[in-house]
Amino acid sequence: MEQLSFPSAHELPEIDFATLDLLPYGIIVVDDEGRILYYNAREEQIAHRRREDVLGKNFFKEVAPCTQVQEFYGRFEEAMRTAGFVANFNFEFPFPDRLREVEISLASFRKENSQLCLISVSDVTEKNLLREHIRRAERLREVGEVAAEVAHSFNNLLTVIRGNAELALTMLAQSDPARQRVAKIMKAADDGEQIVKRIRASTQHQEQPEGVEHTAVDLNQVVKDSIAFTEDYARAAQDERGARVRFETVLAEDKLSVLAHPSELREVFTNLLRNAVDAIEGEGRITVRTRTERERWHVAEVEDTGQGMDSEVQGKLFLPLFTTKGARGTGLGLATCYTIVRRYGGDIQVKSAKGAGSTFSVTLPAAL
Ligand SMILES: Nc1ncnc2c1ncn2[C@@H]1O[C@H](COP(=O)(O)OP(=O)(O)O)[C@@H](O)[C@H]1O
Ligand SMILES: [Mg+2]
Repeated sequence: MEQLSFPSAHELPEIDFATLDLLPYGIIVVDDEGRILYYNAREEQIAHRRREDVLGKNFFKEVAPCTQVQEFYGRFEEAMRTAGFVANFNFEFPFPDRLREVEISLASFRKENSQLCLISVSDVTEKNLLREHIRRAERLREVGEVAAEVAHSFNNLLTVIRGNAELALTMLAQSDPARQRVAKIMKAADDGEQIVKRIRASTQHQEQPEGVEHTAVDLNQVVKDSIAFTEDYARAAQDERGARVRFETVLAEDKLSVLAHPSELREVFTNLLRNAVDAIEGEGRITVRTRTERERWHVAEVEDTGQGMDSEVQGKLFLPLFTTKGARGTGLGLATCYTIVRRYGGDIQVKSAKGAGSTFSVTLPAAL
């Protein structure tokens, strides 16, 4: 009679494959060369493959070829050498429908005379996305609190600026050239008030700010105004750190109508232009181009010859509070740009490389 004994962890008893179909994990069993012996129902779902199409094929070469397959194969070999070895690792896999993050565990075991490997696959895309959403929501709430405070103090300052500018205007003769300057101050204070309104609205209910209505705005005009608004900033950059910035425009000949609020759009471009100025050391050029794409979209591009960004910075650009400028930066510029442009149904794209300048493209739906 055969002796009964508990199997060691390395010598699993006969696996009931049908049971494995009930598991919420993808399960693949391969032989020592990686040929697929078993593929469970969940794995069929995750990978969008049919069991009968993959059985007998080489898992690493024919079924799951991907950029990290080398690493995956290395782990597999390791697991096969050390019976019972279990390796856990995460990686992104380009499944036919989309990129998904999966958690893989490997366990090797002996069955009869062969060494086999059990690969379990758990799709953690949603779990990780949820975690990321929560993190962002918390961050945005914090930003909202800070922003509400800033808006309050800022509003007090604006009242003083506006009040005094109005008073100064009454004291200046009609012919006084300083009138133009004061008018500029008042226009900037107006824009400031709109910003405050918007911050308040967005920190309260994420609603459309009161009194901020969308009108047909000419993108070319907005670009020109924003450059005019940035000229003083560029002059200060020259005085303070010797940056010599030249602005150039290549604007579409036609009027490019978009539905927006002019002060919001000016804020978007002023932020992009200021960032471009900040990126330039020594001599540099900022080129703003506008054009229409596929008839329905108007595009404005801000290109600078500044220091550019590596991919790590590019990945975090639009996060609120992300800045590489230390105390001089707020990290709110691009987050604000993005919020405004998304609200208009548009998008912002970035092209950049370290040391090779940057281009920010704002795409907005054309007003019909
Ligand atoms: N044109 C640019 N060239 C190089 N880096 C840029 C450019 N625009 C933005 N950045 C990077 O993105 C970061 C975030 O920008 P932003 O949200 O405007 O905040 P801030 O300007 O206050 O730092 C900057 O700190 C900088 O590292
Ligand atoms: Mg900025």
